[in-house]
Amino acid sequence: MSAVSFIDFRTPASGFEQPIEIWQATHTRIARMNNMLQRLADFLKKNPVDTNAGVTAASLRRYFDEAARRHHEDEELDLFPRLLSRLNQQSSGPAAEHVGATIHALLADHEEMHDLWATLRAQLLLIEAGKDPGFDDAQVMLFVTRYRAHMEIEDNEIAPALKRMLDARDLQEIGRAMAARRGVEWEELAAARP
Ligand SMILES: [Fe+2]
Ligand SMILES: [Fe+2]
Repeated sequence: MSAVSFIDFRTPASGFEQPIEIWQATHTRIARMNNMLQRLADFLKKNPVDTNAGVTAASLRRYFDEAARRHHEDEELDLFPRLLSRLNQQSSGPAAEHVGATIHALLADHEEMHDLWATLRAQLLLIEAGKDPGFDDAQVMLFVTRYRAHMEIEDNEIAPALKRMLDARDLQEIGRAMAARRGVEWEELAAARP
């Protein structure tokens, strides 16, 4: 396994004033981690588990356990409910109904992705312990393709709706909640600003 360089899990010290941008940037990171997962599965098809494979497995496990979980919470607890509430208040008709139905489908996806992750996680733990996980390629492919399709819908359909429907106060409240979820104090951010 080619050496996996240090992976930065730190939360950026600022940016929560623009929570939608932070949220979408996480999609780019998740896509990168999915590529890494696929590379690991490809490597283990032809090679035994080695130290670098173990390090990669640990990085992937930590990322999906911590950062991806918080990302889903941002959506489930803050972004999606706020968007649904604004849609209910401000508009009706097919467009609003479509976004509402899309959000419900995305939430159902989260459940399914969570189950897929539980299986992969157990396999990554084996790799971390230096054991052959017997990686199920179909399972890896399913996880990666589900995630990709899911994030495309969020970027193409939900992001424009969020930008259209949420006002400055919504964004501030969501940014605060996202910062708190990562242990970042909003006041610290305010104080750090020039
Ligand atoms: Fe999602
Ligand atoms: Fe997402």
